[in-house]
Amino acid sequence: MNKPNDLAISATDLNDIDSNASHDNHFNSILNARLSRRNWLRGSAVTAATAVMGSMGLSACGGGSDAVAITPTPTPTPEKLLAFTAVPKSLADVVSVPAGYTATALYALGDSLRAATPAYKNDGSDTDFDNRAGDHHDGMEYYGLSAAGAPLASGAERGLLAMNHEATTDEKLSSHFLHVNGGTTTLPRPAAEVDKEVAVHGLSVVEVRKTGSAWATVNDSAFNRRVTPLTDIEIAGPVRGNALVVTKYSPTGTKTRGTINNCGTGKSPWGSYLSGEENWAGYFTRSATDNAARGDKSVVSLNRYGRSQGGASRHGWETGGSDDKYARWNLSKIGASSNGSDDYRNELNGMGYIVEMDPYDKTKAIRKRTALGRYAHESAAFSVPAVGQQLAVYMGDDSRNEYIYKFVTTAVWAAADANPADRMATGDKYLDSGKLYVAKLAADGTGQWIELAMSNALIQAYSAYKFADLADVLVNARLAADAVGATKMDRPEWCSVNPANGEIYYTLTNNSNRTVNPSGSSQLAPDSANPRAYTDMKGSSAQNGNPNGHIIRFKEGTGAAAATSFTWDVYLFGAESGADASKINLSNLTADQDFSSPDGLAFSPYTGICWIQTDDGAYTDVTNCMMLAAIPGKVGDGAKSTLNYATAAGGNLAVDTFIGKKPTADTLKRFLVGPVGSEITGISETPDGKTMFINIQHPGENTSLANIGDPSKYTSQWPANAGYGAGKRPRSATIVITKNDGGRIGS
Ligand code: FEO
Ligand code: CA
Ligand code: CA
Repeated sequence: MNKPNDLAISATDLNDIDSNASHDNHFNSILNARLSRRNWLRGSAVTAATAVMGSMGLSACGGGSDAVAITPTPTPTPEKLLAFTAVPKSLADVVSVPAGYTATALYALGDSLRAATPAYKNDGSDTDFDNRAGDHHDGMEYYGLSAAGAPLASGAERGLLAMNHEATTDEKLSSHFLHVNGGTTTLPRPAAEVDKEVAVHGLSVVEVRKTGSAWATVNDSAFNRRVTPLTDIEIAGPVRGNALVVTKYSPTGTKTRGTINNCGTGKSPWGSYLSGEENWAGYFTRSATDNAARGDKSVVSLNRYGRSQGGASRHGWETGGSDDKYARWNLSKIGASSNGSDDYRNELNGMGYIVEMDPYDKTKAIRKRTALGRYAHESAAFSVPAVGQQLAVYMGDDSRNEYIYKFVTTAVWAAADANPADRMATGDKYLDSGKLYVAKLAADGTGQWIELAMSNALIQAYSAYKFADLADVLVNARLAADAVGATKMDRPEWCSVNPANGEIYYTLTNNSNRTVNPSGSSQLAPDSANPRAYTDMKGSSAQNGNPNGHIIRFKEGTGAAAATSFTWDVYLFGAESGADASKINLSNLTADQDFSSPDGLAFSPYTGICWIQTDDGAYTDVTNCMMLAAIPGKVGDGAKSTLNYATAAGGNLAVDTFIGKKPTADTLKRFLVGPVGSEITGISETPDGKTMFINIQHPGENTSLANIGDPSKYTSQWPANAGYGAGKRPRSATIVITKNDGGRIGS
């Protein structure tokens, strides 16, 4: 997810910071000074207004017109970021935030979006999910509204939350919390269960409004909206109309049916919402004899994207009935046509994109931006827009040993596009034409962006897959990246651009396939950019590889957003604070900072804080997942280091890496710990920096279907145990965080 400059004025400020940072002053102190000064100015304005009102009061009491002149001006207190007290690690089934902050559930699975849809009973009997909040809230963005309800980027007291509903909490085939008795775990699945499970996926838009100091959703707002795996979506960009996306649903290859497994997000500089389709392949099945039925290169593609023949689908939705909406989950070549216009053999090629939606306007068709490539997308983060220059969109592919990508627009940024008349047409302008690159990182701390195009000789000559054209390269971006020898990473999750200096941060959440002595094609030895392979104990269970993850960052070379080279270092290594500081806890994390499996990451464009969220299974014997606040330095502020590993053959594997400046208590601090079993995700704020919305995904996810009738055996009862909603089944939910003194979040 990314928070680009949706206000023209902030873009100006932040570019100004960048040019200052190029001088010899320490970058952090410049950023802090700038941000503090900005707040100081805001504080002054408030103080002045208060003083004037106070003097008017005096005047009304007969104090005379000189009162303004004689009222003393209090000395403003500069804002200090990360001044809060760190939240301890915790296994409690609550949301914990620092003293002085309040966190409240706002919008949970099943909440009604329409007056005609009854309140959620949360007992498995609810229906009508097309008009309710979906499940597994994930990436999320805030879009301001004016008091009158018109789009207004600076609107801080009324706005829209657009969010992804990634998946469901499952056991075997069933999303058991959605059904009265936990649902069916054998095939065929009943249509009513399938319809409900499908409908809780996709996206939602919900209006939120502040009254006094309290935020609430607005039921029946005209902006409220659900998008599901059945919503009609346009294919845009180079793949539109290509033979690879011809289906029975769209014989012209111009549309897909819906979007699924939406994970990270992005907010474009023109105010649209971007959603990444992540683990979409697993929802589809393919017959055990489909390779022979196809007999062409599509088998290579399907295997590379995780759908080998005979693969069972996650939920068995293809068995829901004879209707085409169930048939579409079966990828097998069963039709007689030569082009796939009578079956769903090409259906998988319509999934795996960055999807763009205008959150303010439901009459505008949603579009899949195929120019950005097809893989397991997470967030989409824009470079800081500069007038007259191209934009970059940074992205990752979240699977073990997959790649980091960027897209560079053909169009150059025009300031007027920050507030366009037609946001989707502006998306057409920037996102349908450009170049897709993949990252190759070298051991000396440099890297290259390699264009994925037919002009690349390595792509032309690739023996494992014969690419036909650019559309083929984009649909099979993973294969193209293989062809050019891109660097395999430890599961790239979210990325974000530091608005102060343009550097790009990527979370690499963990990788169980990193080992000093690899065997088989899926295992890799540690390398400079993914330098750790170790064992972490979780109770008596050994977790091998890079179980705690790290955060890498890039600084673009000549050409800025359009650069083809960069430098990199590792900003932070996740670790337990007690782990060996020479091999594992390389960032010297303390008990107030230690974390595992970074996933969500976004810089606040308002405070400059880098928010880091975890989706962890390695450290969860000690703590639930969390969110931390950070004030990073910059690429190259640390030191080169060499890690030595003893190989099975009796030799030494020396891995050089670059470790960013180690954090202090003032630059990295735990801000929040979530309920049992939850992942913390979705970072969004109002543009005054005073309200933060985040998502609590899948609390209680380890609850067994066998215990569905006994709430005392649910591993979590959040948010019901916090006083929110009916029933005791755990629910994914958006929470709202405010500071009790009205200050900005993270101060
Ligand atoms: Fe949906 Fe990679 O997290
Ligand atoms: Ca451990
Ligand atoms: Ca994620």
